Amino acid sequence: MSSSSQPREQWASRLGFTLAAIGSAVGLGNMWRFPYLTAENGGAAFLILYILMVFVLGLPIMLAEFVIGRGAKKSPIQALEHYGGRAWKPVGIAFVVTGFVILSYYGVIAGWTLRYAGRAVLGGFPGSAAERFQEYSGGGDAVVFQVLFMAITIGIVMGGIKKGIERTALILMPLLFLIVVGIAIYAATLNGAGGGYRFYLHTDFRDILSLGVLTQAAGQAFYSLSLGMGAMLTFASYLSGDANLPRQSLIISVSDFAVAFVAGLMVFPLIFALGLSGEVGESTIGALFISLPQAFSQMGSAGPPIGLLFFVALIVGALTSAISLLEVVTASTMDSLGWSRHKAALGTGVVITALGIPAALNLDVLGAMDALTNNLLILVGALALAVFVGWIMPDATREARKGAESTRWFPVWRNFLRFVAPALLVLILIRGVPAALDALRALLGGGGG
Ligand code: TRP
Repeated sequence: MSSSSQPREQWASRLGFTLAAIGSAVGLGNMWRFPYLTAENGGAAFLILYILMVFVLGLPIMLAEFVIGRGAKKSPIQALEHYGGRAWKPVGIAFVVTGFVILSYYGVIAGWTLRYAGRAVLGGFPGSAAERFQEYSGGGDAVVFQVLFMAITIGIVMGGIKKGIERTALILMPLLFLIVVGIAIYAATLNGAGGGYRFYLHTDFRDILSLGVLTQAAGQAFYSLSLGMGAMLTFASYLSGDANLPRQSLIISVSDFAVAFVAGLMVFPLIFALGLSGEVGESTIGALFISLPQAFSQMGSAGPPIGLLFFVALIVGALTSAISLLEVVTASTMDSLGWSRHKAALGTGVVITALGIPAALNLDVLGAMDALTNNLLILVGALALAVFVGWIMPDATREARKGAESTRWFPVWRNFLRFVAPALLVLILIRGVPAALDALRALLGGGGG
């Protein structure tokens, strides 16, 4: 009965782990959230700040998650307890709660992408893109597509690490890379693409001299790298032997950044080439879902196939990320309650889907859930992880060294986690906490009114 009597599942190959972790990282965050935040915060200046956040702050914290996960070979709650004692259990529980919240609204946006892909197959995007988005992003139909997406996610996680998660990543991630690069190349051939590049890559540093933008960039970096709630920790817990964890962290961070960067190279030229730049300036959650289909509808015969490929890439990204979120919750439930994988994935998946229904019905709820997780929960989670590996976990450096070639950097890394990362994260939270509280207040007020 108890899951501890069975041997822990493992990845079949190192590549499987790497692609599954990249699959977790690459998702709606790269192709929807990153372009929209970049547009909102003045283009290239945000890009530069974002690069800094990914490589200076994100990468060391990813390594911290890997070290805990591979060292303990347990899901987050038990892993933190293993090294830190009972006092750290609530932090693990908070990670699982964060997974619930992120996945419940993530499944909603992913449902939109399914529906847009279906629309492309059925002949394209005629009519008013704004009206279509309104129709797609609210009401009972949105729930139908959300449930469909969640059912696929649950099915894959029920399949287990090797046969479900790893196999999906091995097949789908190469497809995603091809599509994103292909569309970016196609977009470069369009007349007027230059305006998009100028917008994306022209730097004005005045835009980023604010704590608010720093908070956004950091939150986005953690979100995009799937950090701060034990997703990477859980994936590393299925590693056998001595993977080179610093190298894995670097490969995953670079790949994740590359997809976000190339997503900008596909989105902005497409939108500018078709004269839709006005909609980029006033970017909101829905902007890409409005301006891109609009662009596809104005592209003539190329529109539906390009649109279909674009939404397939979004679906693939969303699916491999949703899998990792559900795996955190599933693995924790298996380890904590002794449930089977099938029961845990199905049971928690259904609850998460139900929690997402308010977000499917109301865009403001969705925005508030997004702000709450990104401005607060995963930042606090990252802070806890830095403190845990910096100060609490015994032998963190020794575990990190296993399988690594150069060992020079490990003391620097540990001191970074001890002092620099917590200081930076506290600074970032100074803005993140009020933003998240505002979102929460709007959510509660909006829900009542
Ligand atoms: N990284 C994913 C994206 O960019 C989202 C995601 C998956 C995530 N797992 C996560 C975010 C864990 C935070 C924590 O779309």
